[in-house]
Amino acid sequence: MNSNNFSIGIFDSGVGGTSIWKEISTLLPNENTIYLSDSKNAPYGEKTKEQIIQLSIKNTEFLLQQNCKIIVVACNTATTNSIQVLREKYNVPFIGIEPAIKPAALKTITKIIGILATKGTLNSELFEKTSNSIKKQITIKETVGKGLVELIESGKLDSKEMTSLLSSYLIPMINKKVDCLVLGCTHYPYLIPQIRKIVGDKIQIIDSGEAVAKQTKTILENNQLLNLNTKEGKHQFYINKNKNVLERLLSCNANIKIEIKEKNFKSL
Ligand code: SIN
Repeated sequence: MNSNNFSIGIFDSGVGGTSIWKEISTLLPNENTIYLSDSKNAPYGEKTKEQIIQLSIKNTEFLLQQNCKIIVVACNTATTNSIQVLREKYNVPFIGIEPAIKPAALKTITKIIGILATKGTLNSELFEKTSNSIKKQITIKETVGKGLVELIESGKLDSKEMTSLLSSYLIPMINKKVDCLVLGCTHYPYLIPQIRKIVGDKIQIIDSGEAVAKQTKTILENNQLLNLNTKEGKHQFYINKNKNVLERLLSCNANIKIEIKEKNFKSL
């Protein structure tokens, strides 16, 4: 089989990276994809750098065993802590997700931006480097979204607990005159309706999904790896925990044919 027909491999600590999968499959409808949801080990945000690297290696090896031609690390925490190691270790292109603080810096009027991300992302060297590059002109209010990933993974997206946790993170940002909110975790785009109810329309919400899909397309083009087939791509999802939440999040993509396998990955 021609390697152009191989799949785009995508992994995340859980179901949140499907927000990135949706952007990729919309922009590149002919591409086959394989998505790995390591929900059993979520959240990564509270793990050590070494643990995140080891899990990212296992996820990558699983996807490479399925002959993926490119790997999208659809997890901010895994990207900021492990992408350098992955790029050095494996001979395939890797796309990572970094919090979109640079685009936010260009949009803010108050010059104060908020970022909601995991502890693992906010404490990473990569995040420190990116934020230092804009800190002279822009104030960044960093908030750890502790507990949000767990609630999403357990299907409590629209719960009272979620509203009260989100309010406790967002109201202090509103009080500090934040006018752009960066979602620094691929799980959080699923919270946009709930976030809107709390912040109204005064704050712009910025996530990286579309930019990541465009970057994936560019890297495939540059490496002559685009799938030139004209038929619709095949989409397989592997999850090592209860697949109900994943099914629910994907149900709005009824027009795309998907296959979900609940599997205790040998390697994880
Ligand atoms: C987590 O697993 O803690 C969150 C994943 C992310 O940072 O995107």
